Amino acid sequence: MSTQSPDRRNRPRRLRANPAVRALAAETRVHPGDLVLPVFVKEGLTTPAPIASMPGVVQHSRASLRAAVEQAADAGLAGVMLFGVPLVRDATGSGATDPAGILNVAIADAVAVARGRLVVMADLCLDEFTDHGHCGVLRVGPDGELVVDNDATLDRYVEMALAQARAGAHLVGLSGMMDFQTGVVRDALDEAGFGDVLVLAYAAKYASAFYGPFREAVDSTLVGDRKTYQMDPANRREAAREVAADVEQGADVVMVKPALAYLDVLADVAASSSVPVAAYQVSGEYAMVEAAAANGWIDRRRAIEESVVSIRRAGADLVLTYWATELAGWLREPAAIPAGGAR
Ligand code: PBG
Repeated sequence: MSTQSPDRRNRPRRLRANPAVRALAAETRVHPGDLVLPVFVKEGLTTPAPIASMPGVVQHSRASLRAAVEQAADAGLAGVMLFGVPLVRDATGSGATDPAGILNVAIADAVAVARGRLVVMADLCLDEFTDHGHCGVLRVGPDGELVVDNDATLDRYVEMALAQARAGAHLVGLSGMMDFQTGVVRDALDEAGFGDVLVLAYAAKYASAFYGPFREAVDSTLVGDRKTYQMDPANRREAAREVAADVEQGADVVMVKPALAYLDVLADVAASSSVPVAAYQVSGEYAMVEAAAANGWIDRRRAIEESVVSIRRAGADLVLTYWATELAGWLREPAAIPAGGAR
């Protein structure tokens, strides 16, 4: 074969020859400012409690939450997303709208620690606060079965949004997948003088098995599933409908969730969205990597870095990940030069 053929001039490997050249050729980067740390805070704890299915993640006490927010700010993260775990639950999720409820006091704690260095985000959903574990309030349906009542739930979301805004939340994260949730919350915030509070809409949130460990993280009481309000994993086109509705209703950020199993959806949304796009690398995605790494079956750090850069490559501006603070620390280290071995 001729050494001068055009084919032989086109050598993709030149751009992979060493770390410096690979850095030059990298199409996607991950920066601490792209990352958001989800955190759990449980009422009544004096020390953090481990979550067995999410090794390395804890249910925080108020004090340990403040320390985690401080670390997140030091690491340069974009934000923290707070989830509250109350001790007492009821049918309407009263704890979510109580100014002394765990999530609302934790928001104030986080805002005080953050001092404007990162965005304090609050999960806006009833599932942690209801005794039945659903994201909304229930009513009796036509066949005598219990169903999640969309419009009655909206009233509760409005009250919850106002409680979170009064606690100082910079952003409310609507994760309940009720129709019209973004618009009613946007209007209520504006009317109450909270026009600066951002709304992140979990626009394309799928009914996913990958939320499994999260149920332990929030001591969930849910029996059954959320298939009447969260999206069917079979659907791609429908995500565009959800995103369009949320943007039209005033969403400042839209989210796709879970992340890794939905990169096609994420790429679609990123290509068409007029607002920033977030993706949530959920509890099951975390647990799978941690479990395989603990068994020595995969390289933990490489798997984490690869998964997050893949979510960014698919188009996410922001990635919610339980590894956010740890990953941000690695991103600050200079690239390691591997010693020995062929390359
Ligand atoms: C609902 C909510 C869930 C998660 C975030 N918000 C659970 C669900 O919808 O069933 C899951 C997050 C994760 O798995 O990491 N408030």
